[in-house]
Amino acid sequence: MVLDALIKIKGEVDPTLTFRRSCREGICGSCAMNIDGINTLACTKGLDEVRGTIRVYPLPHMAVVKDLVPDLTHFYAQHASVKPWLETESPEPEHEWKQSEEDRKKLDGLYECILCACCSTSCPSYWWNADRYLGPAALLHANRWIVDSRDEATGDRLDDLEDPFKLYRCHTIMNCTNACPKGLNPAKAIAEIKKTMVERIV
Ligand code: SF4
Ligand code: SF4
Ligand code: FES
Repeated sequence: MVLDALIKIKGEVDPTLTFRRSCREGICGSCAMNIDGINTLACTKGLDEVRGTIRVYPLPHMAVVKDLVPDLTHFYAQHASVKPWLETESPEPEHEWKQSEEDRKKLDGLYECILCACCSTSCPSYWWNADRYLGPAALLHANRWIVDSRDEATGDRLDDLEDPFKLYRCHTIMNCTNACPKGLNPAKAIAEIKKTMVERIV
């Protein structure tokens, strides 16, 4: 994997080379970077998948802390801004908040996101408006809680997104979906939020 090559370079050639990694299994999202022009995970990108010289860059359009480490402070703050947790008003159940199998299935394709930022940093709308547009990763998480049958703050969540920039800067360019190393579809999640917005008006 490309990550193995980077570890070898750090160990044997240049100990100052700086990059993030943890799980080495495509689960933690730390090793996201741009490899040969595509945002992906270094730990799951095979060396044999790239022809010739392998060019490695930090995730695009982000401030760089050092070498392959982008500054994700704003990205994480945007994720936190969608309140990625269960919001309820009903009294706490004695054991657990229950959910039917059918409702649980609605979370498939959303809960698996590892917050690697490959999608948001491949999105032209995010490149130019990251200060105000939430970007595909944060919006995919927003939808994960909007569709959760146990959540009781759906109206507030939609109100928060009813903004010309936060949500509506997505122009369905689909770079996000093409980039996701977990095979998720943030563009579809964003389209679903827009649809839910319309449905609550009519
Ligand atoms: S579909 Fe939307 S979020 Fe995805 S790359 Fe295009 S503009 Fe960005
Ligand atoms: S949707 Fe995919 S590309 Fe975007 S942050 Fe989640 S796992 Fe990474
Ligand atoms: S090291 Fe965890 S996803 Fe690559």
